[in-house]
Amino acid sequence: MNKTQYKIRLANENDAQAVHDIYGAYVPLDYITFTLDNPDVEYYRQKIILTLEDYPFLIAENNLGEVLGYVYGSRLRPHDAYQWNVEWTIVLSPDAPKRQGIASALYREFANILVKQGYRYIYGVLVDTNEVSFAFHKSLGFEEVGHFANAGFKLGAWRGITWMVKEIGTFANEPQTPLKLSQVLHPD
Ligand SMILES: CC(C)(COP(=O)(O)OP(=O)(O)OC[C@H]1O[C@@H](n2cnc3c(N)ncnc32)[C@H](O)[C@@H]1OP(=O)(O)O)[C@@H](O)C(=O)NCCC(=O)NCCS
Repeated sequence: MNKTQYKIRLANENDAQAVHDIYGAYVPLDYITFTLDNPDVEYYRQKIILTLEDYPFLIAENNLGEVLGYVYGSRLRPHDAYQWNVEWTIVLSPDAPKRQGIASALYREFANILVKQGYRYIYGVLVDTNEVSFAFHKSLGFEEVGHFANAGFKLGAWRGITWMVKEIGTFANEPQTPLKLSQVLHPD
């Protein structure tokens, strides 16, 4: 089987439709996301713009310009002292080829940027029945750090989540405020 050719690039607001459609394909399922109704395209447009201030939002795109998948970061918890933690979301299109390393490549690029910004941990929050995602996180070196039974109710049942974490920074020194994305992508 030929490997799919793709490149990884920064997202922009024109990707909102593709991100909306890819995520929307998983919303009706019970083991990928706790989202019950997929937000509209405008929500994703705003999300891309706002995310890119503080975190990478990356797209894997094939040579026809089709979006194969994406990854982005978000704040783990609102309180200031949590600011060095990043929760990530990574999704490939249902149509994208799997087990070809595309999500791993997205991870590597994503983590490289986060390290430059000064973040310390990446957290994955998985529905506890998402065995593929669990295996994927383990392959990247994430460790399971928590399980919350009955964390959400979807499609007629209470469902649990698993938290996984990957350390990407050091803890010896007092940290500086994480850099803005523009400071590491376009340093003065
Ligand atoms: C999970 C997902 C992002 C993985 O994408 P991918 O590009 O196929 O993953 P990779 O090819 O980089 O896989 C890296 C490793 O993860 C593990 N892995 C990935 N898919 C797996 C599967 N179906 N079964 C078992 N292990 C798997 C393997 O160790 C794999 O390495 P290997 O293929 O050399 O054995 C993709 O399947 C997806 O988008 N699924 C639906 C959405 C989802 O669950 N997202 C995560 C929500 S938390």
